Amino acid sequence: MLLEHPVLFLAGKGGVGKTTVAAATALANAKAGRRTLLVSTDPAHNLGDLFGVQFTGGAIQRVAPCLDALEIDPDIETERYLATVKDNMRRLIRSTMLEEAERQIDLAGRAPGAAEAAMLERIVAVLLDERAGYERVVFDTAPTGHTVRLLTLPELMGAWVDGLVKRREQRNRERSAWVGGDEAPEDPVFELLHRRRHRLAEARRLLLDAGVCAFVFVLIPEALPIAETRRGIDDLGAHGMNVAGLVVNRLLPETVSEPFFHRRLERERQYLARIDRELSGHPQIRLPLLEHDVDSLQALEILLAHLH
Ligand SMILES: Nc1ncnc2c1ncn2[C@@H]1O[C@H](COP(=O)(O)OP(=O)(O)OP(=O)(O)O)[C@@H](O)[C@H]1O
Ligand SMILES: [Mg+2]
Repeated sequence: MLLEHPVLFLAGKGGVGKTTVAAATALANAKAGRRTLLVSTDPAHNLGDLFGVQFTGGAIQRVAPCLDALEIDPDIETERYLATVKDNMRRLIRSTMLEEAERQIDLAGRAPGAAEAAMLERIVAVLLDERAGYERVVFDTAPTGHTVRLLTLPELMGAWVDGLVKRREQRNRERSAWVGGDEAPEDPVFELLHRRRHRLAEARRLLLDAGVCAFVFVLIPEALPIAETRRGIDDLGAHGMNVAGLVVNRLLPETVSEPFFHRRLERERQYLARIDRELSGHPQIRLPLLEHDVDSLQALEILLAHLH
């Protein structure tokens, strides 16, 4: 479930252990000798703390043998994205309009959704370009709702770019009819839109390819994480994405004796039964609650031993 898929997304409610399980999964793959890339799309990153490295400027870093990591920073990606848009524009429009156009783009960069579009741009680049250098890519995602929305963006953006491509085609046809001749005029805007549409369609194809991409939900045996996992699975299913299974994290040891913990254990058993019932049909891995945080490579190794 965790080692098979070339691209794995770890999803789940806030704080349940997505980053921890993503890091353990990536480490397990790397230890098996597979070149692995661990990518965090959660704006509140903590891969750096876990591996004791500092991530700067959105670059890929080596964190262990066979294991590279990348934290995608929404601010950096938005800047980079806007810079590309401006760069394209400089080649395409008259200089008298440039200043106003750049002002508009800067404003658009602060609009709701801009950071998500830029993040998506980077995820698409990981899937289509950087993935070539790795046998496994493990994504540590932001809490559920955000991730599902982000991953359905290629569909929305694809449809939007489609509309623009069609209008541009129409305009080019009308233009050649005016100017005469059958040759389509050279149109760099059309080329750009076309390339973009192609990349989004390609990313979308990969996300839906069950032989390449899979989602694993991390949850803890409590009511809200179970409910959110169910919603997340339904959402992804509705978009045709493949859910490979569940990691149920932070189980109490069976040996607790204090009455307080005993009652908690009883409750936990009820929730585990609910998971079996309500999320049936998805394979499960269960991980114990460790005595300490999983905040270092050593602690991660302990969790890994449990995974095995
Ligand atoms: N099995 C475990 N035993 C003990 N501590 C754990 C375990 N799994 C995770 N933790 C700890 O729980 C906290 C939350 O885990 P983690 O950061 O992986 O969750 P997350 O789902 O990525 O959170 P966020 O939604 O904020 O990104 C961390 O301090 C981590 O060290
Ligand atoms: Mg996290």
